[in-house]
Amino acid sequence: MKYLFLPLFIFVLMLTSCSTELDPEAKAALPSPARGKVLYNYYCAGCHGTTGVGHGPEDPEIFKQAPNLTIFVQDNSSREIRKKILSGSFFGMPEHRSRMVEQEMYDVISYLQLLSEE
Ligand code: HEC
Repeated sequence: MKYLFLPLFIFVLMLTSCSTELDPEAKAALPSPARGKVLYNYYCAGCHGTTGVGHGPEDPEIFKQAPNLTIFVQDNSSREIRKKILSGSFFGMPEHRSRMVEQEMYDVISYLQLLSEE
């Protein structure tokens, strides 16, 4: 009877070792410029334009025009770009903390970096 617990013990060991082997970092998908393009066109192009240089058709220009992002993206790290997207600014850039998840921001950033290379 006591040998019944051995396979059960091994089974539980297998289950727990599987879940601890998964690295949480590894589960995050790599940034995808293809997904980023869709997100950019939805969230950003209205103001920053489809090519990122500004003059989007829905830019309210309350305080100033939405700037050319290709310059900002060339001069700043992903961290800095993320900060802008997260918090926005008083001068007309809306915050996106409440609209996008981290993965989506990095997708958009990878797309902007691609746009800025051209
Ligand atoms: C309602 C219009 C609007 C939308 C939508 C918008 N932005 Fe902006 N954005 C602005 C304005 C205006 C500024 C300038 C703010 C300032 O100078 O403080 C700006 C500034 C920025 C900057 C800093 C650029 C610089 O030169 O300082 C980045 C980066 C940026 N936006 C990225 C994005 C991204 C990415 C999205 C979409 C997720 C987005 N924006 C959506 C209007 C917008």
